Amino acid sequence: MKYGHFDDKEYEYVITNYNTPLPWINYFGQDGFFSLMSNTCGGYMFYKDAKLRRITRFRYNNVPRDYGGRYYYINDNGTIWNPGFLPMKTKLDSYKCRHGLGYSIFESEKNDLKCELLCFVPLKDLCEINQLTLKNNSKETKKVTLHGVIEWCLWNAVDDQTNFQRNWNIGEVEVDDKTIYHKTEYRERRDHYAFYHTNIKHDGFDSDLDTFIGLYNSWCDPNAVKNTTSYNTVASGWAPIAAHMFNLELKPGEEKTVIFQTGYVENPEDEKFEKLHVINKKRAYELQAKYDTKEKVLKAFEELKTKWVNLLSTLHVESDNDKFDRMVNIWNQYQCMVTFNMSRSASYYESGTGRGMGFRDSCQDLLGFLHLIPEKSRERIKDIASIQFEDGSTYHQYQPLTKRGNADIGGGFNDDPLWLIAAVSQYIKETGDYSILNDPTPFNNKEGSEKPLIDHLRASLNYIITHKGPHGLPLIGRADWNDCLNLNCFSKTPGESFQTASNFESGKAESVFIAGMFVLYGKEFATILKNIGLDAESSDILKEVKSVEDATIKYGWDGEWFVRAYDAFSNKVGSHECEDGQIFVEPQGFCTMARIGEDLGFGKKALDSVEKILTNDYGVEILHPCYKEYHIELGEVSSYPMGYKENGSVFCHNNPWIVIANTVIGNNERAFDVYKRNCPAYLEEVSEIHKTEPFVYSQTIAGRDAKNYGEAKNSWLTGTASWTMYAASQAILGIKPDYDGLMIDPHLPKEIKHASVTRVFRGVKYNITINNNATGKYEMLVENNKVDGKVIPFEKSSKLINVIVNI
Ligand code: GLC
Ligand code: GLC
Repeated sequence: MKYGHFDDKEYEYVITNYNTPLPWINYFGQDGFFSLMSNTCGGYMFYKDAKLRRITRFRYNNVPRDYGGRYYYINDNGTIWNPGFLPMKTKLDSYKCRHGLGYSIFESEKNDLKCELLCFVPLKDLCEINQLTLKNNSKETKKVTLHGVIEWCLWNAVDDQTNFQRNWNIGEVEVDDKTIYHKTEYRERRDHYAFYHTNIKHDGFDSDLDTFIGLYNSWCDPNAVKNTTSYNTVASGWAPIAAHMFNLELKPGEEKTVIFQTGYVENPEDEKFEKLHVINKKRAYELQAKYDTKEKVLKAFEELKTKWVNLLSTLHVESDNDKFDRMVNIWNQYQCMVTFNMSRSASYYESGTGRGMGFRDSCQDLLGFLHLIPEKSRERIKDIASIQFEDGSTYHQYQPLTKRGNADIGGGFNDDPLWLIAAVSQYIKETGDYSILNDPTPFNNKEGSEKPLIDHLRASLNYIITHKGPHGLPLIGRADWNDCLNLNCFSKTPGESFQTASNFESGKAESVFIAGMFVLYGKEFATILKNIGLDAESSDILKEVKSVEDATIKYGWDGEWFVRAYDAFSNKVGSHECEDGQIFVEPQGFCTMARIGEDLGFGKKALDSVEKILTNDYGVEILHPCYKEYHIELGEVSSYPMGYKENGSVFCHNNPWIVIANTVIGNNERAFDVYKRNCPAYLEEVSEIHKTEPFVYSQTIAGRDAKNYGEAKNSWLTGTASWTMYAASQAILGIKPDYDGLMIDPHLPKEIKHASVTRVFRGVKYNITINNNATGKYEMLVENNKVDGKVIPFEKSSKLINVIVNI
């Protein structure tokens, strides 16, 4: 069943039924001011860091789940409704929520009163605009009361939900006839405040939650709204909110617009106050004046749309498969932007208070983002590399506001260092710019410890080389990519974190997955070294690669697939010898991508096993059979009920590895088959089963052993976005940035006979036509000239380059 439809022309998903199976959300913002917006107008806003600088409050674990947002109450002669359905839940005569790229538009109607609400964060300013237009479509004059309200968060989202003995004393606001300023803690150490402003004078306001709503009421029956009034409260402590009230009279056919703006302002220390206790509002006034007319709002909105059209023109495909095109051209790239911005911090599943930017996550997020904005990627690479230690190990996460490694979680995830090579090599391939290798980059953010970035890559490899186990395979540490494979944890204490507890440091547990990574990214680094003339170092690295490759062939092969790991007692994990967890997906993907044992047919066999054992209707499950009971020697992986999360769900992140691996062994049909199984656009028709947004990937889809087989969770913030973007563009379409030029090596399935791709690469625009004649032969014409090999050698040019590839 569908709850809306794609509007590809507008780059939108249009939700027409507000009863979606889960909140379907969208993101706004690019640089500092970020917002989440659900299809019921729920969600929250923050500045840079969802934990440390939360602007509006959101109560996770609420009832109903999606409660709290920017709520607009329309009281039309006693009928009270909201354009996003919640919180009043008044049945609407019509409803549309158009989630677009960086904006959402609600179009709703009730009793011949039409409301259009346009919400977005402008490109250059730290604010969210909510432009609300009411139109009277009836034949009578309507007198309508409109309330717009948001609830402030007391900045630190964790304290906000915990430290009430303090919080309920500190809330402070200032109010004038258009604006409510939230200035809690500004009197002391903060240099920032927020405001909720309207472009016209309000007819009343409130800033105290309990008065606005009534202590025994809720968001669905606030006193002020029911009584078409406001109490003009100036909050002092408790829960400060911002509510504006308007009495609007609309003649038949007349429309009126109110522009609401939530803004964030920082002041220099010596300009904080206008006078004692009164905040300096100069910057706020400037920001308010920028969006005080419909024309100005429209202009900013057009700029945002144009920005996206330009960004997406970097890569655009037109093939005979519209679902594939829609994902590649619009939604997959959009999701890559969001994962780049958020890492795994803020969604409806990530509370924004736990994880900041992940080392491995953010490195992988770059793979699908780099082509969009290479400059931002370079900056990100530097931030990430700066939380690496001199021995090559890394902090696992950092807070975006401080950019300091997060000491609570620490390090010890032994895959982390290698992801840096994945990101940097891809950066060089995309940009051709080797100078990044010379960027002075500190270790653990220590001043004076700066070394050229290339030394960080050396340290990464060296860490693996110097941390091997009894079989010559890399040690796993606390976990590798699979955070839940905790082979040194041995946790018996309820609630103890599997990621940070180490009750028994075996120094023995090894990861075949990291071996695959080491071979793949070790070879990559060797190529880079060779390209910059460091031949001797390059061949030394290749020797190290060879030794891990040999160890993997000898100890990492189970007969029909790759072993997953060796535990603390050197017992195999992910082998036919095991009772449960006989096969894991990760090494099948990575070791095949790394071509380990290619001559021996390992990849082919491994992928046959993946198809036979792990593949279900919605993709490839992470392992099989699921662990039926808790295994202290394996950790969190066995803690989940069967079929959920790392214990046997389709953990979507590693599905694109299987897609890519299949193209490596030349099985194009199977690659596309795996791609389709959990591609959101293909699951739109079964939204009542899949439940999450049909336009973005989710982290996990319950596996065959789960009670709710096929149900997805944790949408948006997943490495699936980037890896699928990579798989679709670089493996299936085969348009691969390479060191010396653009490689075109398509692996299209039979069902895609033709694809026309525009790709802007290092500033040059290529028009690539791929004809899939299924001949098994390869031919490339560049500007009508036959070219040997698959790489278009790079040359700067202002001309459009026409390329034809026949396969
Ligand atoms: C989560 C984490 C990611 C990890 C994956 C598998 O998505 O963010 O870092 O690799 O789970 O455990
Ligand atoms: C839990 C999740 C896993 C995540 C990890 C780290 O183990 O299942 O997906 O990566 O927490 O936060």
